[in-house]
Amino acid sequence: MSQVPNIRLNNGVQIPQFGFGVFQIEPARTAEVVRTALEAGYRHIDTAQGYGNEEGVGQALRESGLARDEVFVTTKLINDRHGHDEAISALDESLQKLGLDHVDLYLIHWPRPRADRYVETWRAFEKILSDGKARSIGVSNFQVPHLERLAAETGTVPAVNQIELHPWLAQRELQAYHREHGIATEAWSPIGKGGDLLADERVVALAEKYGRSPAQIVLRWHIQQDNIVFPKSVTPSRIRENIDVFDFELSADDIATIDELDSGTRLGPDPDTFG
Ligand SMILES: NC(=O)c1ccc[n+]([C@@H]2O[C@H](COP(=O)([O-])OP(=O)(O)OC[C@H]3O[C@@H](n4cnc5c(N)ncnc54)[C@H](OP(=O)(O)O)[C@@H]3O)[C@@H](O)[C@H]2O)c1
Repeated sequence: MSQVPNIRLNNGVQIPQFGFGVFQIEPARTAEVVRTALEAGYRHIDTAQGYGNEEGVGQALRESGLARDEVFVTTKLINDRHGHDEAISALDESLQKLGLDHVDLYLIHWPRPRADRYVETWRAFEKILSDGKARSIGVSNFQVPHLERLAAETGTVPAVNQIELHPWLAQRELQAYHREHGIATEAWSPIGKGGDLLADERVVALAEKYGRSPAQIVLRWHIQQDNIVFPKSVTPSRIRENIDVFDFELSADDIATIDELDSGTRLGPDPDTFG
């Protein structure tokens, strides 16, 4: 079993730094794939209402025999349910699908600034937190102005901001804001969706140097800067390989080499316009 460290969120809740993402895993396959991840030692699952596979996640959790407090479960509010009452009823539906009475982390999936309802939605999240339906609440894909607005208009700092983050998009400005305000950084598409990033000659050279795979090198880069990651895979050997990154360390020079890959390249949508 891996030795995944916990990170302490700003409300004291502990989150395993390494988890398993289930975006684009077909609903019918999700229970089997998540079971494989739990058997490989993952204790943190990142799903979303919009992924359509919360039922499969819940089934795998029940079949694993693990106690509820042994697995950290995150889900997210779908874009068309922004609003106070909408958010509360959406979480109730997610909980029913997951077969849980609370999640460990609930996120606003995208800010949708043009709809301009994320502050009202965040007030519902504050109620969700005080009602115990989520142990912690956060946001995803929020930019600095969106975070500043939450800080100015509400009393609760998000526990996390889950953002696209990998060596091609290092998000330095947002990361600095997070550090300053006690917001943990969660990195989505941490290995760049498994594409060309892993074939970059500098990543491949480091993989050869450390006797690891390119994905493990990139994941280790995240771990050493305190990012929370949850790579997705439906391939059992990759599921096991990805979490096996806690017995080696990249040197400062090699971290710097990966830092040089930052080109501001997004693989996903622009949060200022999406949704
Ligand atoms: N908040 C958001 O808006 C948002 C957006 C996107 C993602 N996310 C979250 O972040 C999680 C991870 O992001 P992601 O799924 O977009 O991308 P990712 O984890 O960076 O990459 C997943 C892709 O990489 C492949 N892969 C996995 N391990 C590999 C390895 N060791 N070597 C080579 N290829 C490998 C997978 O293929 P196989 O499956 O075929 O093995 C899959 O195609 C998601 O599942 C979701 O939980 C959140």
